[in-house]
Amino acid sequence: MNKLLISLLMSAGIAGVAHADGDAKAGQPLTAICAACHGADGNSMAPNFPKLAGQGEEYLLKQMTDIKAGTRQVPEMTGLLNNLSDQDMANVAAYFASQKVAPGAAKPELAELGATIYSAGIADKGVPACQACHSPTGSGNTLARFPHLGGQHATYTETQLKNFRIGARNNDPSMMMRDVAARMSDAEIAAVASYIQGLRPAE
Ligand code: HEC
Ligand code: HEC
Repeated sequence: MNKLLISLLMSAGIAGVAHADGDAKAGQPLTAICAACHGADGNSMAPNFPKLAGQGEEYLLKQMTDIKAGTRQVPEMTGLLNNLSDQDMANVAAYFASQKVAPGAAKPELAELGATIYSAGIADKGVPACQACHSPTGSGNTLARFPHLGGQHATYTETQLKNFRIGARNNDPSMMMRDVAARMSDAEIAAVASYIQGLRPAE
């Protein structure tokens, strides 16, 4: 592992934490209730419901743990995770992680600004390049729990960035995303969200 990654892991307080060890086959039957919103294979149809397909297993488990505990508030999911044990949630995470994300498309008029922000950040506002953590292809970093973004619905991504900006979502370790989003305008958020929707991970 390289030095930058190790220091990121340390600063995020992740090193040494137990990792998800899920069984996708055991998880699949537990996802029937999730399908209504997230799709049977984790590719949701509604743009305000996140795609879970192909998302990092560690990240999925962290979000489920946070949502269950209420440290990330998702009113639509109230009570839905209460009957799932930690192992059940790890199994569900493994199932969605093993699915393939359905690709989306960027709006051509937003793609250029979005691509610039994603790959280079916004220097004069101190916004870092998204790809530094989320990878150039949007596939994230599973071990570091940096989520996969490529192909995600732009509407969902915009909501997350705006929620991080006002602190309505505050479960990001070391305020990593609140710091980023606080420096971004609505137009910049819309552009990068559209670009992300069209990002395709390397095969
Ligand atoms: C009634 C609709 C609904 C159902 C059913 C539902 N969810 Fe969700 N889920 C949502 C919404 C809405 C969000 C995102 C809300 C937000 O932050 O904007 C979400 C977010 C998530 C996230 C975070 C994704 C990310 O990219 O950060 C995970 C993981 C998740 N749900 C897992 C599940 C699982 C597992 C089930 C089944 C046990 C489930 N959900 C059932 C509506 C639903
Ligand atoms: C220093 C690392 C870092 C940088 C730089 C960074 N992110 Fe993130 N991002 C994270 C982490 C960590 C999370 C997960 C937070 C959590 O655990 O809830 C995240 C979460 C997100 C999410 C929520 C994903 C979901 O499924 O809910 C979005 C959207 C996002 N980042 C977009 C961006 C964009 C756009 C940029 C560039 C403008 C960016 N990030 C730059 C580390 C980073």
